[in-house]
Amino acid sequence: MTRNIQSMEAQMSGLGVSIRPHVKTCKSIEIARRMMADESPGITVSTLAEAEYFFNHGICDQLYAVGIAPGKLARVAELYQRGLELKLVLDDLDAAYRVVEAAGRLECRFRLLLEIDADGQRGGFAPDAHALIESADLLAQGGCRVMGVMTHMGASYDCRDTACLRRAAERERLAVVSAARHLVRAGHDCPIVSVGSTPTARFARRMDGVTEVRTGTHVFMDLVMAGLGVCRISDIALSVLTEVIGYRAGAGEWIVDAGWMALSRDRGTAAQAVDQGYGLVCDQDGKVIDDIIVRATSQEHGILALRSGKPIDADRFDVGERLRILPNHACATAGKHDGYWLIGDGQQPRRYWPRIHGW
Ligand SMILES: Cc1ncc(COP(=O)(O)O)c(C=O)c1O
Repeated sequence: MTRNIQSMEAQMSGLGVSIRPHVKTCKSIEIARRMMADESPGITVSTLAEAEYFFNHGICDQLYAVGIAPGKLARVAELYQRGLELKLVLDDLDAAYRVVEAAGRLECRFRLLLEIDADGQRGGFAPDAHALIESADLLAQGGCRVMGVMTHMGASYDCRDTACLRRAAERERLAVVSAARHLVRAGHDCPIVSVGSTPTARFARRMDGVTEVRTGTHVFMDLVMAGLGVCRISDIALSVLTEVIGYRAGAGEWIVDAGWMALSRDRGTAAQAVDQGYGLVCDQDGKVIDDIIVRATSQEHGILALRSGKPIDADRFDVGERLRILPNHACATAGKHDGYWLIGDGQQPRRYWPRIHGW
């Protein structure tokens, strides 16, 4: 984990940009503090529960990087009153009206970034959209503070080669840089120009015009990232410890006590060149075992099979043997658990770091 954090920090500092780590992956103050480099402007969160938790632990500069739901603005206003510098995001003129209305009603000067669409997959204004300027004008006239633009290139997760990842990174950069120019030409300040996903950060060649990068998955890495070529399997710092509970003699498959409740239902590697099922199986020391994956899951059962479909030997494991499963998607798998057991070189858990849930 420390290596992953340092490597992303080194890469971003080489490109002259700071990281505002996305802590939705870890949801843990112990880890968030380690993800914040000296020059980090703050953190990125994905729920108000995270915002409250990290604020209670002293992190005051946060970007809530999900389009704001008007029903949450009263809670946000309370957090402002307590001193949280929470930047909100919106990508819709109607949402801007709702924010301005709430700003008047709640007597709160909301700070906002406008979300830009870089990949056509989720929300965001087109970089040259008239509604971008209209929204910024409306927010500024309504007593709110427009602080810049942000985007997230989710499509980078679907890339299949390095050229695609490099193009995605550059498209992400160009989308926000051109939107920022558009805003400045219309008379708005744009101090924050924010991009971020682990794959685009890893493959970006330049960050000119960008002020911060929001990576989150880089802290643990996962099988999807390994499949994209963003990391090696040996960089994955998160695993689910499980125990062998039986053998399906007919099928030549072993059963463990980690089902989708422990691993998540994420199948992010299904469309990649190497399908890792619901996770890749390692021995207790974290050494990958002979192409064995979790082929299927039910709530509390995981079925282990050889990727080739051939039967696994009946004497391959013992009931009670402990194994580790590497996750397809670190955010989804970590989200199934209440905390992290830290292990060092030996296998004895050293410490426990809790994490939070909820909205
Ligand atoms: C808005 C936003 N920013 C940043 C990120 C971080 O991306 P990654 O987990 O690939 O580092 C995400 C991830 O979903 C996101 O939704």
